[in-house]
Parts: sequence; C-alpha cells; structure tokens
Amino acid sequence: MIRLAKPWIGEDEQRAVAAVLESGQLVQGPLVERFEQAVAALVGRQHAVAVSSGTSALQLALRALQVGTGDEVLCPALSWPSPAHAVRVAGAKVQFVDVDQDEWNSSGLALRAARTGDTRAAIVIDQFGNPARAEEIRDGLGALPIIEDAACALGSRFTNGPCGSLGRVSCLSFHPRKILTTGEGGMCLTDDDDIAEKLRMLRNHGQLRGEFVVAAGNSRMTEIAAALGLAQLQRLDDIVARRRALAGLYREALGGKLDLQSTPAGAESNYQTFGVILPQGYDRNVVREKLRERGVEAGLLSFAIHKLGSFAGSDASLPIAEHIAARGIALPLYPQMRNAEVDEVVRSLRGVLDG
Ligand SMILES: Cc1ncc(COP(=O)(O)O)c(C=O)c1O
Repeated sequence: MIRLAKPWIGEDEQRAVAAVLESGQLVQGPLVERFEQAVAALVGRQHAVAVSSGTSALQLALRALQVGTGDEVLCPALSWPSPAHAVRVAGAKVQFVDVDQDEWNSSGLALRAARTGDTRAAIVIDQFGNPARAEEIRDGLGALPIIEDAACALGSRFTNGPCGSLGRVSCLSFHPRKILTTGEGGMCLTDDDDIAEKLRMLRNHGQLRGEFVVAAGNSRMTEIAAALGLAQLQRLDDIVARRRALAGLYREALGGKLDLQSTPAGAESNYQTFGVILPQGYDRNVVREKLRERGVEAGLLSFAIHKLGSFAGSDASLPIAEHIAARGIALPLYPQMRNAEVDEVVRSLRGVLDG
C-alpha cells in the first residue's frame, strides 16, 4: 500500500527522545525553550510559545487577542474545522468566507467583503501549505488583527517572507500529517511582547510570575515532543525540497487534466498536501475505494466547515469551498516516497478514472 502520509523519523529522533526519558525532566524544560527559539529564528519572529497542538495554538491566540462573546471572526470555509471550532469555543461567531477557485485560500478582497461592524479578527489560512496572498490581505484588512493559521505551512514562503510571519499571532501544528512532527504539538508566533506573555500564561493554568491570575487550562508541550521537534528541524530543508520535487512530478503528470491548487506568482508552497479535484461524474468515495484496491491510499481533501454538524443550522452558501470539499481527494505525498511510487499513483488514478 502506498500510504497517504508518513512522518520521517530516524535514529536522531529516537536518540533525542531516549535522552529525555533518561534525564527525568519530561515537561516544559530547556528543550521546549530551545525548540521555541529555533522556530522563532527560522520564521523571523520575536516570540514562539510552544503548546500541545495546533488547535490549542488557535484557541490561545483568540483568547490572547481577547476575542469573545458578541465578536465575529472571519474564517475561510474550506479547512479542517479547528480554526472555526476555536472561534466557537471562544464564544464568538464565525463569519465564513469562500475561497479562491485556483489557490483554495480566501483572498484579501473576499475577507474584506465579509467584514461587518462586529468583526474583531480574521483567521487567514495557508491551506495545504499554499501561501495566502499576504500583502493583498494586509491591505484589505488594515488594522484588523490577523491570526494566521499556518498549521500546514512551515517552510512555505509568501512573495515577501516566510509563512508564519503574517499574523499578529501565527499558529503552527506539529501533528504527524504536518511538515515536522512532535507527535501532537503546536506553536504560537508573535512579535508582540504582551501577547507573548499572555500566551505563556494561558498555556500554563493562567499562572503569571507564580500567581494564578485567570482561569485557564494546561496546553504545555512536553520535553519529549520538543526533543522530537528539534531533531525534525534538522531535516526541514530536505523535507521541503523532497516534497516540492515529488509535487513537481505530480503536476507534470496531472496538470491540465485535473484541477490542482495553484500558488501565487513568486510564492512557494511546501506541498503539505497534494490535492486534486475530480471531474463531474466521479464519486470521490468510489474513486478512493478503487484506488485502495490498487494499493494507493487517498484521503478526503478537506471540509466545507459550514456544512458540518458542528455548524448545523448555518445557511451560509459558499460554493467554491463546497465544490472543493465535495470533489477533492489528497494523493500520497511524504519525503521518503520514491519517484516510482508517484508514477504508480498516477497510473492507478488514470486507470480508475478511465474506468
Ligand atoms: C488548517 C489547520 N489548522 C489547524 C489544524 C489543527 O492542528 P492540530 O491537529 O495540531 O490540532 C489543522 C490540522 O489538520 C489544520 O489543517
């Protein structure tokens, strides 16, 4: 079976984790701090605050920006539901925004058009590692705080800087499907000293300088996760280069025949996910099942979040997100994948589509 995704874990990761286990210090210690400093330097941000998942990063970012009841937050409609759920958990209303047909991200124009008098913040997603149009979005939203959901986008670049540099707070995920993994894990990035202090307080039971100052949960990262992350960081360039090479092979074979995600001119995707949109007339679940019979694991590409049970009752109509969610599948892509396996996936997909 050619798997959809596989993290690249080697001896360095195993040694790093074993050393933590031997040390006896398992949570929130020097390795978490080193991991934070390394990621902050990589993305060019003043502060990095490691947390337990990308979802926690989004929840803490909203809380640090004091988003709450009565507020509205703009959120692209096509995504894993975490960003929209985080808004709901904060007690605010999600204002869903459709995505661009080619880039699968919400444009600056669409975000600006969806803004109302109650809008307190905008979530901007670099979907599947594809950079959003950062400058256009900044121009479109003015001083409105942006939370960049860069869960998938470490190693990607906007036209003018690394993904993770757009948001008042930018959020990363280190889930095994992402570019680097720590098992579960996430991180908030910011240049604002006060927000960084709040995030550190919110991840640690609401403690500030030894006092419990607000009620908050535990979103800390373990030393085990940070050790894994530091070892993974050594591979980042190789991981991204290999993903780009494999995606290039897919694009060569499938471009012009199936709709693929396009990247803004001058920007660079890390290809965290390689999606294709199936033509009319094909049932995505049947295609996935037939691919499985041929030894290829293909995934659901994404979700039209406003159509999920968690937003039952929403009457929003966002046709592009709905189209991509209904017809998109994700093809296998991971750094150790061989070129011949890409050929095999392409052959299988053609075989299934030609019937
Ligand atoms: C765009 C986006 N945001 C947030 C998340 C949540 O990350 P985590 O799984 O680390 O909670 C994901 C996970 O798939 C995602 O794709």
